[in-house]
Amino acid sequence: MSVITVNDGEATFDCAEGDTLLRAGLRAGLALPYECGVGACGCCRCEVTAGEVANLWPEAPGLSDRDRRKGRVLACQSLPAGDVHLKLRLHPQPEPAIRPVRHRATLVASRQITHDIREFVLHTDAPADFRPGQYALLPLPGLDRERAYSMANLPNAAGEWHFRIRKVAGGGATTTLFERLAIGASVGLDGPYGLAHLRTDSPRDIVCIAGGSGLAPMLSVARGVAADPALAGRRVDFFYGGRTPSDLCGEADLAALPGFGETIRYHAAVSDADAAARDGWRGPVGPVHQLAETVLGERLTEAEFYLAGPPPMVEAVQQLLQVTHRLPPERIHFDRFF
Ligand code: FES
Repeated sequence: MSVITVNDGEATFDCAEGDTLLRAGLRAGLALPYECGVGACGCCRCEVTAGEVANLWPEAPGLSDRDRRKGRVLACQSLPAGDVHLKLRLHPQPEPAIRPVRHRATLVASRQITHDIREFVLHTDAPADFRPGQYALLPLPGLDRERAYSMANLPNAAGEWHFRIRKVAGGGATTTLFERLAIGASVGLDGPYGLAHLRTDSPRDIVCIAGGSGLAPMLSVARGVAADPALAGRRVDFFYGGRTPSDLCGEADLAALPGFGETIRYHAAVSDADAAARDGWRGPVGPVHQLAETVLGERLTEAEFYLAGPPPMVEAVQQLLQVTHRLPPERIHFDRFF
């Protein structure tokens, strides 16, 4: 066990062997800055002012060359070797709503959703405790680093965690999941993490915009709205963008929710015009952020936004909302995985 001291004593926390600085701090209830938890976003950059850390991923894209020259580290990729003093900016958000916990999980089911997205159901003995829109970190067998995957379902006492994962060509993690992990396999599951979870205290209509396996957290957010009596009647516009018609998904899940077709609406766009013509797609063709702008019209500036998907999609939506329409960042929720 190491003792971690933040900002000359502003906070201290214990870090168990094998835990990263970030996760130990969050488990202790500290509002540490982070988004991805996997070395990509750079939000957890900090300085080690005393003591030593081992770097799990020296080439992590979350650090620039300048950061490396200045000796900065990523809290999510650092294992303390003894007691450590850190300098960092504590997050303006309050402490984590639910403190992350390490579980053992069993793969109990999986089913194909589209040609490249599969749902994996993991079971833990403890309840599945998270906020709609959050993710968990999975240490998969044979891989050097954990991967972040979002839950598509709702928190539950039965300990069920549903992940919708898109197969990445040549990707080690998804090859393990899709081809090597059999029903009954035991894996680690650490969570929940993520700040882009459903805000139940906002009175605004909700817009979810997803692409790829960003479907999972957006589905969880929409399900969270439908399941919360305090949000009854709240309008949810759910946008999904795929390259081809065969990439589209999510509508059947939303159709099972009360209010579908009335307060909850599904809108889909295909970005590849050739594929759309070839496959007889009669719906909108183009990027999903353009569809959202067209459908929402004047409602766009009044809504609360949740985003998840490939980085270019998230960046295009962010540009639309923050630059073109000048929405304040606190009304746009997403965890940056790039
Ligand atoms: Fe550490 Fe994203 S949280 S790089």
